[in-house]
Amino acid sequence: MTLSRRHFLGATAAATSFTGLGLTPAFGQTKTIPDWHLGYANAPAQGFGPAPLRLVYGKAPKGLQGNLYRNGPAQFLYGQDDYIGHWFDGDGMVQRIAIGDGQAIHTGRFVDTNKRQVELAANKVMASGFGTAGHPDFAVMGPDDVNAANTSVMVVNGELLALWEAGSAIAMDAETLDTKGPKVWRDDLTAMPFLAHPKREPDGTVWNLAVAGPNVGVYKIGKDGVLRDFGLLNMGIASYVHDWAMTERHLIIMVQPWINEALRPPVVEGFEWRPEEGFKFLIVDKDDFSKQRWAQGPARAFFHTGAAWEEADGTIRIDAALYKEPVLGAGGGLEEIRGEWAGRDGSMVSDLTQIVIPVKGDARLVETGLDGEFPQVDPRLHGLPRRLTALVTGPSAKTPGSTSLSVHNWDSGQTDTFDFGDTLMVEEFLFVPKPGSTREEDSWLIGPVLNLKTRTTDICVFDAARVSDGPVCIWRADYAWPLGFHGTWA
Ligand SMILES: [Fe+2]
Repeated sequence: MTLSRRHFLGATAAATSFTGLGLTPAFGQTKTIPDWHLGYANAPAQGFGPAPLRLVYGKAPKGLQGNLYRNGPAQFLYGQDDYIGHWFDGDGMVQRIAIGDGQAIHTGRFVDTNKRQVELAANKVMASGFGTAGHPDFAVMGPDDVNAANTSVMVVNGELLALWEAGSAIAMDAETLDTKGPKVWRDDLTAMPFLAHPKREPDGTVWNLAVAGPNVGVYKIGKDGVLRDFGLLNMGIASYVHDWAMTERHLIIMVQPWINEALRPPVVEGFEWRPEEGFKFLIVDKDDFSKQRWAQGPARAFFHTGAAWEEADGTIRIDAALYKEPVLGAGGGLEEIRGEWAGRDGSMVSDLTQIVIPVKGDARLVETGLDGEFPQVDPRLHGLPRRLTALVTGPSAKTPGSTSLSVHNWDSGQTDTFDFGDTLMVEEFLFVPKPGSTREEDSWLIGPVLNLKTRTTDICVFDAARVSDGPVCIWRADYAWPLGFHGTWA
């Protein structure tokens, strides 16, 4: 492999170092703010809590002990009218819901990044990003200068990391949520990108990717948090890689035909949809990265996979929320941020799909017709054969959010759904295995719901085996915090 770190980082730095015109919106007039805008409004600079949540429904499950950590953008507007250019570019705020002895305590803190410090001091949007052009006065020397640290979180060996995708993971105190700074896995990997979708084997080993242009770095991290290996791959084209998949034996780099063809900010404007390229899969042996094979299927766009597994004959199955074309491109989420959303775009329909990759020949798609996002699986079975995928479903006609939580069973083909209704906005739910159990049905599902009637964030717990029965319990904050993307249970 001849790719060097300098070559690798060059692509990212180039993508983020051009500066463009700042936003000059003509807004600021008095307007009616819709109730759902609560999910896209700036969080207070000092954060939230620690504050106890109130149990407002049901009984706290015995044995549910741990921390739900989540991350998402929480600053969208500077001054009166200086908005970021895309929902994906708001400063990350990490939420911690500490659950024990039937009590739940919420803490929320912004990740104190370089980007945030510069923008708070200037009181305006400065950094370029996924969909934000940035200010011409903001010089960018490397990816962490514009790192929003806003996409997900990971806990490894007790260390909490706020994840973005084009720069470093940012270490935080797991209790206070104080920011420590960029994580350096190895000196020669300083500022190397670290995707927001690491994959954890049941034994605790973590795999993740660094993506810059067509170059893909592979991290293998022990459950002790020590980097075991870092390798380099090449996927041939600069596909947008936000998520990927892993089986017990293989890494699967999913090369969608949404391709970066111009390095200029904002990043997303350099991407072109090339469906004629199809959807390619680079399958890499975890024990020997030089052992690779390719498969191809029909063109699809995607953000998220559930997970993958491999059958005895080597057939690989991956579940993912697939789209016929890319969504949330240029200007993505901008109407939501401004409180001006006019209704659902008909192209934003996903389909929970199982991608079946045989040992030889093309991949085929098994589509469920289930329009959902944020697919999640039982962490005990990540990379292994399983039945269940939980996901957020039921796109609302009245808000930019979703109303339902579903569990799809791949064996029976049945989907079990609970619909909260149009006055609630449902976020990602995570599997939490019940103590002493082994079956994936023996799990709770835990996640937040933004309640527009009470103007609160509610933490809901379901029994994974009976989602349509409704929540087992609900804890409610005295306030709401912005909608987030992803979380982890630790
Ligand atoms: Fe994601």
